[in-house]
Amino acid sequence: MSIQQENIEKLVERRAQAKLGGGAKRIDAQHAKGKLTARERLALLLDEGSFEEYDMFVQHRCTNFGMEKSHTDGDGVVTGCGTIGGRLVYVYAQDFTVSGGSLSKTMSEKICKVMDMAARAGAPCIGLNDSGGARIQEGIDALAGYGEIFERNILYSGVVPQISGIFGPCAGGAVYSPALTDFTVMVKNTSYMYLTGPAVVKSVLGEEVSHEELGGAAVHSSKSGVADFAAENEQDGIQTIKELLSYLPQNNMEEAPVLATADPLSRVDDALNQIVPDNPNKPYDMYRVISGIVDDGKFFEVHKNFAKNIIVGFAHMNGRSVGIVANQPNVLAGSLDINASRKGARFVRFCDAFNIPIVTLVDVPGFLPGTQQEYGAVISNGAKLLYAYGEATVPKVTVTLRKAYGGAHIVMSCKQLRGDLNYAWPSAEIAVMGAAGAVNVLYAKDLISIENPEDKAAMADKKKAEYEELFSNPYQAAQKGYIDDVIEPRNTRFRVIRALESLAGKKQSLPAKKHDNLPL
Ligand code: HXC
Repeated sequence: MSIQQENIEKLVERRAQAKLGGGAKRIDAQHAKGKLTARERLALLLDEGSFEEYDMFVQHRCTNFGMEKSHTDGDGVVTGCGTIGGRLVYVYAQDFTVSGGSLSKTMSEKICKVMDMAARAGAPCIGLNDSGGARIQEGIDALAGYGEIFERNILYSGVVPQISGIFGPCAGGAVYSPALTDFTVMVKNTSYMYLTGPAVVKSVLGEEVSHEELGGAAVHSSKSGVADFAAENEQDGIQTIKELLSYLPQNNMEEAPVLATADPLSRVDDALNQIVPDNPNKPYDMYRVISGIVDDGKFFEVHKNFAKNIIVGFAHMNGRSVGIVANQPNVLAGSLDINASRKGARFVRFCDAFNIPIVTLVDVPGFLPGTQQEYGAVISNGAKLLYAYGEATVPKVTVTLRKAYGGAHIVMSCKQLRGDLNYAWPSAEIAVMGAAGAVNVLYAKDLISIENPEDKAAMADKKKAEYEELFSNPYQAAQKGYIDDVIEPRNTRFRVIRALESLAGKKQSLPAKKHDNLPL
């Protein structure tokens, strides 16, 4: 065998060894937990044959605790680039079979390298997390590594989409990288995220709590909102990431891909003419409205189980990607609370950062009252949503379906927050407050002075009717140009698409500043 041939064989052998990560036993242990390996995950994520791996031979440099005797090519993370549906992405997948995927300084260097490359190439960066946290033997070096990653998460936020998959443990400060990225997908029953684990919780607070109860996918996708998606299993998690990417542009200078659609842009949906009940206190399902207006009725929802009183997600309209934000009358009457405001604000800001037009469907009776909300800073949180809409410069099309009362009307992309085209259905009620509340304030003294309860009720009803006549309609707002047109519900798809087409070339900017001071 020639020397060259021998060299090549050594390379092939070394590559094969590196691909085994921590070895066959640890791979079996990973499978036994119902988990895939880092490489198996990447094989599912990327187009076949597209993976270009970097730093396969990188080894840690730690010499503490006998670590100098144990080295694995590639260390605990697999990094590189590839394509998804033909579009370039950069990836890293932590390899739990090597020191539990714990982060060494060299691992952080590998991760930072692909993050930098993603930003330079203008391509999304996807991280698949499965790690025991900082490599304990490396001490402060591992912490420095996390710091390097976080800094890049921050610098590239709003430059390229950053997506985190949580496919195993993600604990301690490690949780902050996913928290800094745009979207987090967790897998039910095999992944968890928390700052301090069950053992610490028990010793500090005496509370008994399982991994799943403390930081599982169900908890974070419904209670904390830390996870945007809770996948049934790893395959589902990977599929979610792929589908999400199909709605996004590669970077902040580009538009999302346009999808061919057979759904006619002028399709009317007659059922929408009847969807708002005659009784203003009766709810209806906003999902039905969304599916009635978007291409093929297909809606990709984000944060599905968190703050269900507001709905956010992506869809296509005449083939173009849009972000939908809609109040849900079926939950808490569609009122805005702390979590709904946070959820909506984060989504609006993402869409704005990545040139995705926002379609807002409004039916909001106001902000949720009460001490719990006020003590939890509903004021600052509501302001986030207001701020997000007000600063957004992407095309903004708003349709008010029914209630739009008070501050909540302003928050939900009204004209004065630089809403581009604001439409209303004939059932819209755009006013400072509902009729009953208004009458109680305006006629408080008159009503108190009436002793007979029947007379009192009759006067209240009369005044309510007068108020409704005056304000419980869209025409006051339309007369003043605050609403651009009152439209027939069944034509909503066509009108919104036409609005979006007319806004395709929109250019708007913000005053020069270092950065804003969003009410965090
Ligand atoms: C070094 C680690 C490690 C770590 C796991 N391993 N975590 N090695 N540093 N942080 C090693 C284990 O020793 C073991 O090696 C292998 O990985 C697999 O781990 P197991 O414990 O056998 O797996 P499992 O039973 O599934 O438990 C997984 C686990 C547990 C829950 C993650 O390993 C664990 O609790 N690890 C420590 C977690 C932790 O405290 N991390 C530091 C958090 S603080 P062998 O050779 O036996 O197979 C932190 C600060 C970050 O991360 C701050 C950033 C700003």
